[in-house]
Amino acid sequence: MATETLTTMTGEEMIALSKKHTLFEWSAQSKVDPIPVAHAKGIYFYTPEGKRFIDFNSQLMCVNIGHGDERVIRAIQEQVATLAYANPFMATEPRARLGAKLAAIAPGDIDVFFFTNGGAEANENAIKLARLATGRHKILARYRSYHGATAGSMMLTGDPRRWASEPGMPGVVHVLDPYHGIARGWDTAEESLGMLEEVIELEGAHTIAAFILESVTGTNGVLVPPDGYMQGVRDVCTKHGIFMICDEVMAGFGRTGEWFAIDHWKVVPDIITMAKGLTSAYVQLGAVGMRRAIADQFKDKVFYGGLTYNSHPVACAAALATIDVYEQDNLLENARAMGSVMRLHLDDLARKHPSVGAARSIGLFGLVELVRDRAKKTPLAPFNGTSEEMAALGKFFRQEGLYTFVRWNTFFTNPPLCITEPQLREAFDIIDRGLEITDRAVS
Ligand SMILES: Cc1ncc(COP(=O)(O)O)c(C=O)c1O
Repeated sequence: MATETLTTMTGEEMIALSKKHTLFEWSAQSKVDPIPVAHAKGIYFYTPEGKRFIDFNSQLMCVNIGHGDERVIRAIQEQVATLAYANPFMATEPRARLGAKLAAIAPGDIDVFFFTNGGAEANENAIKLARLATGRHKILARYRSYHGATAGSMMLTGDPRRWASEPGMPGVVHVLDPYHGIARGWDTAEESLGMLEEVIELEGAHTIAAFILESVTGTNGVLVPPDGYMQGVRDVCTKHGIFMICDEVMAGFGRTGEWFAIDHWKVVPDIITMAKGLTSAYVQLGAVGMRRAIADQFKDKVFYGGLTYNSHPVACAAALATIDVYEQDNLLENARAMGSVMRLHLDDLARKHPSVGAARSIGLFGLVELVRDRAKKTPLAPFNGTSEEMAALGKFFRQEGLYTFVRWNTFFTNPPLCITEPQLREAFDIIDRGLEITDRAVS
């Protein structure tokens, strides 16, 4: 790829200058230790010095089709040359085609889309739509969730990333998830739905506009809901006139083996949000999809929302090309097939390594929870914290050329959906060796 020749800096120079003049997110700046990245292809990326990494997290769970796909690159180049920008009051061909394409693949009668720059803005606009359409104010969200870092989405977010921004937008009520951490485990769907009903009663159903939830929770643990939970949430929301908003920013676009994770439970939310895999992050784009009946409300009522880069032609063209790649290369089928292979690898790890407390996956969305005591399931790092052993595991992965997300007592297995069986084996060989480090901590 031509990109190899474009890098003129060494890795050290990239790091030094980036650290001097740019701020790294979610970090105390003296602690950041970035990997310098020069170019990428398929499931691999490379430093300027040529060190190769397996991208076992698809960067930020977003490069779903893999790196450097010529078809998407060409579509972006052609769109920039034809029409790089038109403002959101204009109609363009990529905007028109992408709206129609998403209507064809989105669940049920979700038919109308509003385009944003990413996931957080998609969620901002989803709650705006829900509030305008219902005339109600409160939003229910779950504790084990991440919905983005803009002001409103940060308040929807249930995990500790929210704390530093409080107090923020009023009206968000957090509810508990069916999952309570590795030591306490799972509620049944009925128990969890009962708790949800109780919160709705206590808050007043007529005050609640929407319940936003990740169809499969991402950074907070690849939490696949128990069967019946999503169907039950749908029923509870319908009963009370509360919009069900599914955040598919991470779980959408083939990650779980379906276009959208909610498709596994054949549930149609009122609103769906997406980003990441929509363009595989080749350029920025998010979207809010809504059922026809909601869109119809804005025929006469004003939709009070806007963005300079709404329906950006280059981003829409990139999304169309990316969706073509999913279809041409059968990436949903591959995610299902390779997801089964990954499941076997995860089961092997659980059998072999005493530090593996749980290994969850759906399609190519996977996570391992590590423990220091298998009977009590004491996590290997505390809630919102780290430990020497988790840090050592992260260091080992990096040294061995495996990039993935290591968070609290967990690490992720989220490769691009184009991964092959030998490539999965290569990655799991490294993981298998790495877990010898964490096994030594088990009492
Ligand atoms: C489930 C979910 N929602 C929303 C977001 C926010 O998306 P963005 O970072 O594009 O604003 C993320 C980002 O990781 C996410 O995982």
